[in-house]
Amino acid sequence: MILDLKDLKPVEKQYYLQHFIAPRPICFASTIDKKGNVNLSPFSFFNLFSSNPPIVVFSPVRRIRNNTTKHTLENVLEVPEVAINIVTHDMVQQTSLASCEFPKGVNEFIKAGFTPEPATMIRPPMVKESKIKMECKVLEVKSLGHEAGSGNLVICEIMRVHVDDSLFSADKKIDQRKINHVARLGADWYCVVNENNLFEVEKPNTEIGIGIDSLPLSIRNSKILSGNDLGQLANVKEEPVIDPSFDDARLKEIIQYYGINPDEMEKELHTYAKKLLKTGKVTQAWQVLLALN
Ligand SMILES: Cc1cc2nc3c(=O)[nH]c(=O)nc-3n(C[C@H](O)[C@H](O)[C@H](O)COP(=O)(O)O)c2cc1C
Repeated sequence: MILDLKDLKPVEKQYYLQHFIAPRPICFASTIDKKGNVNLSPFSFFNLFSSNPPIVVFSPVRRIRNNTTKHTLENVLEVPEVAINIVTHDMVQQTSLASCEFPKGVNEFIKAGFTPEPATMIRPPMVKESKIKMECKVLEVKSLGHEAGSGNLVICEIMRVHVDDSLFSADKKIDQRKINHVARLGADWYCVVNENNLFEVEKPNTEIGIGIDSLPLSIRNSKILSGNDLGQLANVKEEPVIDPSFDDARLKEIIQYYGINPDEMEKELHTYAKKLLKTGKVTQAWQVLLALN
């Protein structure tokens, strides 16, 4: 299927794009109008765009239904300050409740049952229940159009962040497993980021991998090793050579049983290397694959 965006209705564009560009973190934006009325609404068109200066952007779009603007947008144009509260799993239902189209002037802190906590540098209050709260000033609001669904980039500079102590590990590092972010996908789908679905991918910043094109053909054309497996193997900074001290019982067994049948041996070695790669044992996987030479 090929989608030409210009042929789609605004609601269809939103439907497809929200499924494809996902998951999106959620900015729970607390803003205030010039009379002092507080507003609290979630926005998943949101991300980090610069760390120095520290810039995040979120986008209240013009309502698809009637092409009107959101109260959050109107507020930041009046008072260019926003408290951005990060949404975690324990807050998701109340956050969704805050997204109802309450009339202008209704305080969603009250409607959704969140506790306002005074910020230290800006007027809008923070959400006490959020474990990461950012005090931001709005640098610029950039309209992306006047049609239903058009976004408005609210470009914010983060001035101060309040982080809950419970998110730190004993060595004072942020423990990603403890945050439990939720993120928005297409339609009504959300996901939670927790220990069950987190994984690490090692990426040495200063060293350059040899690249898939440098892998021996027998590895590159393997019917057993996947793209992820090849990605790991090709991320070494130089092509490994046979290490005579590498001593592995399973490798010996494979050579002993399948030595007379090179095709079978290759299959077994690739299967074993794949298993090693699954647990991050790249050096060992390379030694197993080099045994074919
Ligand atoms: C998780 C979540 C994410 C949302 N993301 C956006 C978004 O990125 N942009 C947007 O315009 N509306 C988004 N909405 C809808 C707004 O929150 C909703 O229109 C809200 O009523 C706006 O409030 P306001 O008019 O008080 O600013 C989202 C809703 C939810 C529940």
